[in-house]
Amino acid sequence: MMRSDDTPITPDLFADQAPTTLGQAERIGQQSFVLRGFALPWLDRLLPELEAVLQAAPFRQMVTPGGFTMSVALTSCGALGWTTDRSGYRYTREDPQTGRPWPAMPTLFRELAQAAAATAQFEHFEPDACLINRYVPGARMSLHQDKDERDFSAPIVSMSLGLPAVFQFGGFERSDKSLRVPLFHGDIVVWGGVDRLRYHGVLPLKPGQHPRLGAQRINLTFRTAG
Ligand code: SIN
Ligand code: FE2
Repeated sequence: MMRSDDTPITPDLFADQAPTTLGQAERIGQQSFVLRGFALPWLDRLLPELEAVLQAAPFRQMVTPGGFTMSVALTSCGALGWTTDRSGYRYTREDPQTGRPWPAMPTLFRELAQAAAATAQFEHFEPDACLINRYVPGARMSLHQDKDERDFSAPIVSMSLGLPAVFQFGGFERSDKSLRVPLFHGDIVVWGGVDRLRYHGVLPLKPGQHPRLGAQRINLTFRTAG
């Protein structure tokens, strides 16, 4: 039997629903797009801001309600940050590690997320949470839905930095076939609308050295959570 994540990305999987491009955007679902290299022109200004956020709220490995330590290390910025521990998944106003509010979301982050959302035809995106994930070689994120946000009318805007990874973009059941989308430094994926609750995940990161970020991948996801 074929594993659910073994389907390579094919241009015609959604051909019955929608054209496969929108301007420069690659369409991976009816309302889902990969914007190749979209963040690249912003990174000279963005990376120092990211550095400052990480100083204030360092990466930490969190425990799932089931008692597993996630292989991905996490932190957040913005009015709300995402946390998991033995009592469940939730958004909080304070970083549980410091007891202080999460670092503010830099204006530049918000502007970039809004520009990407607008390119994918989601106008007026107002993110109040930015989750920051760090993958070292071997780290992965299993298929899940982003459903801890209060309102699903806003899209998810997801930016990749550093080492490449394979993003899985699936259906509405965990067992549905998923596309495999290679993501590179500076790529942004936007999914929302009818696609907002699609399962997605990241295959184990392959070892490597990225010229700017070293042996890691950092992913930022912008959400309207509250
Ligand atoms: C996530 O689903 O929160 C992360 C996706 C990614 O790392 O590309
Ligand atoms: Fe997610």
